[in-house]
Amino acid sequence: MSSTTGMFAIANPRIAVTRRIPEPALELLRETADVWVSPHDRPLDTDELHRAIAGADAAVTLLHDRVDAACLDAAGPQLRCVANVAVGYDNIDARAAAQRGVIVTNTPGVLTDATADLAMALILNVTRRLGEGERRIRSGRPWSWDMFFLLGHGLAGKTLGVIGLGAIGQATAHRARAFGMEIVYSARRRALPDVEQALGGARALELDELLARAAVVSIHCPLTPQTRHLIDARRLTLMDSDAYLVNTARGPIVDERALAQALRAGSIAGAALDVFEHEPAVHPGLLELDNVVLIPHLGSATIETRTAMAVLAARNAIAVLAGQPPPTPVSPG
Ligand code: GLV
Repeated sequence: MSSTTGMFAIANPRIAVTRRIPEPALELLRETADVWVSPHDRPLDTDELHRAIAGADAAVTLLHDRVDAACLDAAGPQLRCVANVAVGYDNIDARAAAQRGVIVTNTPGVLTDATADLAMALILNVTRRLGEGERRIRSGRPWSWDMFFLLGHGLAGKTLGVIGLGAIGQATAHRARAFGMEIVYSARRRALPDVEQALGGARALELDELLARAAVVSIHCPLTPQTRHLIDARRLTLMDSDAYLVNTARGPIVDERALAQALRAGSIAGAALDVFEHEPAVHPGLLELDNVVLIPHLGSATIETRTAMAVLAARNAIAVLAGQPPPTPVSPG
């Protein structure tokens, strides 16, 4: 494995940006490098991606770009940095990158609040059936105020089960506390006592117990080989028939087919998904159901957050090309 410390600055570097990013980030990159930006307003296919980053000293990539060993080899031995404009980096083979002396960076922190806001919005949306209500009005079918019309569930006094208590999981839990929820969580490591205390005495539980206890389960762990299909058919049966599942992390953490079956059978009350197993495709079984909220990967989708993410990615690439430590490198795992 090559060492990434003490790297020298690259003269006249070339940076490939695989899809348009906010202008402030491009301006920063152009100050120090020759920048190529994909002219396509879509993800590059594999051949295009390989050609796009061939000869680049740094690549600024998006979460739909698969940066595997073949891609890194296609880039060439001069590649120093892959700066992913996302906190998740399951699209990058970080180990293969480290073996080639390529530093991988991500964009933690700057999207925490936007993503937690969206998770909370989805929790409220699915428990109060807002999507169903909106569809009902747009359908033109008559309706009137009625004591029993589109009743949902309140949150106060209920338990939020947070899977993965990192920055976004904690920020979501803080929001849920403001709605009167109790917090339980499941994580690789137990949180520090002051983190648990700040969340009203959040309790660490084994995942199966969390699923059995929580009224709302919100997923905030990274996608890794260990978390792929973490929520599968068996685990869905542990949830209460009045409980809801919310996923703003990565689609493949949930077995989408099993989820569609559980929602259809009413073995859980509802789900809200910002991410999908085979993004951008959505399991057809979900599209037919009313008790699932489906939105197109909008967790970080505010102008401020996307700009901050792109600028952080640019700073990462620039630092590496200048031979300096980048602000937010990922660990090769
Ligand atoms: C978005 O999904 C991200 O990982 O930043």
